[in-house]
Amino acid sequence: MKILLDYDLTNMNTFRVPARAKFFTEIQSERDLSELFVAPEFKNNEKLFLGGGSNVLFTKNFDGIVVLNKLKGIEILDEDTESVEIRAMSGEIWHDLVTFSVERGYWGIENLSLIPGTVGAAPMQNIGAYGAELQNVLESVEALEVETGARKIFRKEECDFGYRNSVFKNEIKGKYFISAAILRLNKISKPKITYRHLREYFDQNKTEAKSSKDISKAVIDIRKSKLPDPAVIPNAGSFFKNVFVNEKEIEKILAKYPDLPYFEESGTKKIPAGWLIEKAGWKGKRTGNAGVHEKHALVLVNYGGATGEEIKNLAEQITASVYEKFGLKLIPEVNLI
Ligand code: EPU
Repeated sequence: MKILLDYDLTNMNTFRVPARAKFFTEIQSERDLSELFVAPEFKNNEKLFLGGGSNVLFTKNFDGIVVLNKLKGIEILDEDTESVEIRAMSGEIWHDLVTFSVERGYWGIENLSLIPGTVGAAPMQNIGAYGAELQNVLESVEALEVETGARKIFRKEECDFGYRNSVFKNEIKGKYFISAAILRLNKISKPKITYRHLREYFDQNKTEAKSSKDISKAVIDIRKSKLPDPAVIPNAGSFFKNVFVNEKEIEKILAKYPDLPYFEESGTKKIPAGWLIEKAGWKGKRTGNAGVHEKHALVLVNYGGATGEEIKNLAEQITASVYEKFGLKLIPEVNLI
C-alpha cells in the first residue's frame, strides 16, 4: 500500500470536477487495509472512503486522506433449492454484481441494474430503483471500525434502512469502513414490474419478463434513454432526494397544482423532486458550465469545465426556487464534500 501526496481527484468523481486530496491511497486487499489502519496519515487525518465516486460532489480540496476501495471478489456462501447467499466485496462495481446474478438466473437485484457505484456504497444509500431496494435482499454488512480496526457484522435490522438512508449515513457516519455485503437472492422466479416505466416497457415491446436478465435489460434500456451516461456527460445521478410529505401538506399543494404526481410509500406520500424542479422551470437550463439535464430534471450535469462550487451554487438556486414555489425543501442525495 502506497500513500500518495496532493493527489488529483478529477478522475475519481463522476462529476469530473477538479479537487485534490492531501493524501491518497488505493486498497486492493485485506492486507492493504490492515496496513492502512495503522498508518499515521490515516490515523491523524480526516478520512474519505471512495468507491465509484458517483455520489460525491467535491466543492473544495480534501484536507485529509482519500481511500479508494478496490477490494474485489464475489462468492457464493450458501445455496439451497430456493435461494442463494452471496458475499460481494465492497470495491466490486455494483452493476458487475447484478450481471453476475442475472447471468446465473438469480432474482432480487435485476431492477437495480446500471446503478453507478460500488457494492460498498449500496448499503450506505440503500440504493433503490424501479420498485426495488437493496434492503429487500440484503442480509448483512461486514465492516471494520475505523478507530480500532475491529471487525463488525451489521445484521439488516441494525442497518436502520430508510429511503436512500441507513445507519451508515447517520449515527455512525464515518466510523466504519464497509468491507463486504451479503445478499440473499431467489432462484425462484419473482418478477417485480409494477413500476410504471417498467410496465410500459414490457407492454410496448410486447415482450415478457421471463428471466431476471430480461428485467435487467429493460432497466438498462430505460435508464439509457432517460439518464445521461456519466462517461459522456459527467453527473452523479439524482442530485436530490424525492420529497416525503404528510396528508395535510399534499392537500395544500394539490389545491394549487392538481396535476402534481405523487406515490404512496410506507404510509406517507412521495413527490418526485424531478417534477418540482421541472415545474419551477429548471429542466434543461444551463448556467455557465453546469446545468439541469434536459431529459431528467433531477440530474445535474457538468457540461465541461464546471467546478464543484459552480454545481453547488446551481443546486442552491434550484432549492431556493422550489422552496419559493412549493414551500418544500429539497435535500441533496449527493454527498457534498
Ligand atoms: N419527473 C418529472 N420531470 C422530470 C423527471 C421526473 O416530472 O424531469 C416526474 C414524473 O412524474 C415521473 C416521476 O418524476 O413519473 C418519477 O421519475 P423517475 O421514474 O425517473 O424516478 P425518480 O423518482 O425521479 C428515482 C431515483 C432514481 C431511479 C428512479 C427509477 C431518487 C432520488 N431517484 O428517481 O435513482 O433510477 O427512481 O426508479 O430516488 C439515482 O439515485 O441516482 C437515481 C437515478
